[in-house]
Amino acid sequence: MSKNSVVLEVEKLNLYINDHHILKDIDIAFYKNKVTAIMGPSGCGKTTLIRSVNRLNDLIPGLKSTGSLSLNQQNLLELNPIQVRREVGMVFQRPNPFPTMSIYENVLAGYYLNGIKLSKDDKERIVTESLQQAALFDEVKDNIHRKGTFLSGGQQQRLCIARALAMNPKILLLDEPTSALDPKSTASIEQLIIELKSKVTIIMVTHNIGQASRVSDFTAFLYLGELVEYGPTQTLFTNPKHTKTEEYLTRKFG
Ligand SMILES: Nc1ncnc2c1ncn2[C@@H]1O[C@H](COP(=O)(O)OP(=O)(O)OP(=O)(O)O)[C@@H](O)[C@H]1O
Ligand SMILES: [Mg+2]
Repeated sequence: MSKNSVVLEVEKLNLYINDHHILKDIDIAFYKNKVTAIMGPSGCGKTTLIRSVNRLNDLIPGLKSTGSLSLNQQNLLELNPIQVRREVGMVFQRPNPFPTMSIYENVLAGYYLNGIKLSKDDKERIVTESLQQAALFDEVKDNIHRKGTFLSGGQQQRLCIARALAMNPKILLLDEPTSALDPKSTASIEQLIIELKSKVTIIMVTHNIGQASRVSDFTAFLYLGELVEYGPTQTLFTNPKHTKTEEYLTRKFG
């Protein structure tokens, strides 16, 4: 991988909450228009790592971190967190559309929350394009002004993906995006992730080895806050270098 294709570079990231050392000397580069899976047993720091990328950890009391995170060579820690969250979208484990908003308003929520005014034409265009990109448009186009709460879990998750895409982020963080979904909805989200990578760089936490192998180009394996192994998914899965990775992949733990 040439240096040019790195979109996000994490260097010597250490993160502590009170005296608990949660991320230890993490060095990892994420490549443009690729899907990177973050794997590892519960509590190893996967969510904390991706929340560092969009500065959501800033809100945790007692948190200290050192090291650097750069997005296209800009130091993420020196940017305004609001700007960071426009460049780095996030979708959580449980679909969380805003229950009081319509589908249309949900897609535009990032603009409302940032106080950004849009013309009616821009709103229509952004809503249509984002729902199309999230493979949801055809299913909801006749109900776009209804609340999103009648949607299935999988549709709600695609609505959350549309809401993130509406801001045109450079990176999309997905934290176990299908763990609350049935197999059919999971398959449609996996297909969507594969389609979306031409538009946005994706970092996805998953516990599902099959999912990582179907969807991701690269996999990072974390254990007890350390990055044990990182490389092309097929190499890491077929020929892991570290015993811990192999044990995890063969489900000896985690
Ligand atoms: N807000 C917080 N306050 C204190 N400790 C925290 C906080 N958030 C996370 N931690 C601790 O940081 C460690 C890593 O947690 P994290 O949520 O990143 O793990 P994870 O790999 O995402 O786990 P899981 O697979 O269960 O989601 C854990 O020991 C957790 O208890
Ligand atoms: Mg987690």
